[in-house]
Amino acid sequence: MTAPDRIEEFLSAVKAAFMDSSLVRLKLGGYHGDEPELKSVEIKKIVVKGGERFSFTYRYKTRDIIKNFIQPEAIALLRSGLREAFRSGQLFTTTFDLMLERNGDKVRLKRSEVAGRDAPSTEHNRAKNRPLSETNKPYLQALGITGKDGVVRNDAQDKFRQINKMVEIFAPLIQAIPGDDLRILDMGAGKGYLDFALYDYLAQTAERPVEIVGVELRPALVTDGNATAAQSGFTGLRFEAGSIMDYDANGADAVIALHACDTATDDAIYKGISAGAALIAVAPCCHKQVRQQMEAGAPAPVLEGMLRHGIFLERQAEMVTDTLRALLLELNGYRTKVFEFVSDAHTPKNNLIVAEKDGRAGRDQAAILAQIAEIKAMFGVGQHYLEGLLQR
Ligand SMILES: C[S@@+](CC[C@H](N)C(=O)[O-])C[C@H]1O[C@@H](n2cnc3c(N)ncnc32)[C@H](O)[C@@H]1O
Repeated sequence: MTAPDRIEEFLSAVKAAFMDSSLVRLKLGGYHGDEPELKSVEIKKIVVKGGERFSFTYRYKTRDIIKNFIQPEAIALLRSGLREAFRSGQLFTTTFDLMLERNGDKVRLKRSEVAGRDAPSTEHNRAKNRPLSETNKPYLQALGITGKDGVVRNDAQDKFRQINKMVEIFAPLIQAIPGDDLRILDMGAGKGYLDFALYDYLAQTAERPVEIVGVELRPALVTDGNATAAQSGFTGLRFEAGSIMDYDANGADAVIALHACDTATDDAIYKGISAGAALIAVAPCCHKQVRQQMEAGAPAPVLEGMLRHGIFLERQAEMVTDTLRALLLELNGYRTKVFEFVSDAHTPKNNLIVAEKDGRAGRDQAAILAQIAEIKAMFGVGQHYLEGLLQR
């Protein structure tokens, strides 16, 4: 009689839990493969337009990457992962937990029964449980997301999904900030999509006073935003006309800037660092300042073949700009993560730099400075605009 294959037993249990929707979550740990900085993989079931999927969140040291797979692909990945690169698998279902541990060729499985655990909602169900579940709100109508009947318009479904997603990302980051109240600045607020949604959600859930100020150059948007905030009864939300650099950010707990144009993102980061904000989160827009320097400067000759193509120059400018921003934040005592915050189907400008102040730079300051200097020299960048601000 051949010994039972514990990994196949584990995979059968995963498959069954996926099929009957009793899968709560699955985690692969003890990674010892070739991918630098990969720590673990967390897996859940979601439902997307195309059907049911396994959603894998690959947790790296400083970022997360999410990939969705149909069942056969997911099981094949789990099989090879558990046989080669991960030493443990933990399956949590509504009725039992199954722990797999592999030591070389030896595999142990331990099952324990549980009671009273619910299956989490899948993405499809979650749509009904979005942070902004109630849509009959004046601000949603003023922003053109709902019609007069308070129902999300067909042509605004994407926008509504996006702002829900933003609340899902920002609310936990903000709620993790210690203190008796919360002061949030949104730099380059535009029409204030994020501010209205975030305020609506935080005012109901934060259990402490919340103030959000949207700083915006265009006075007409500020007037409209303030009128809608008043109409909504959002006493802690206001918009102020002016430039980011002129705004006194002292006392801010969080400084956010979504798609503020080019160096306006740097102005926001600078204001956040100067104010000692606990959280700085920016989704950069265009990257002209660094691109112009790369074009005028002398990048390493080896890059010539790459940078002569406009599209690659553009992408490299984006990478260089935002890498330097992340390093400069690190240099100033922030832990930084960069990840995609909305699908690139909505916008190609979908990177979010999230920096949380932890009082000490993650690495040796001299090492960070050396890395900044090397990257600049390699790409022919004289000075990053944010660097100049920080040297003032
Ligand atoms: C692309 S819009 C993004 C608006 C909003 N954050 C959003 O994501 O919907 C950029 C906004 O930033 C504003 N802006 C650009 N530079 C600014 C500055 N230096 N100070 C204040 N506002 C600025 C623009 O007027 C514009 O409304």
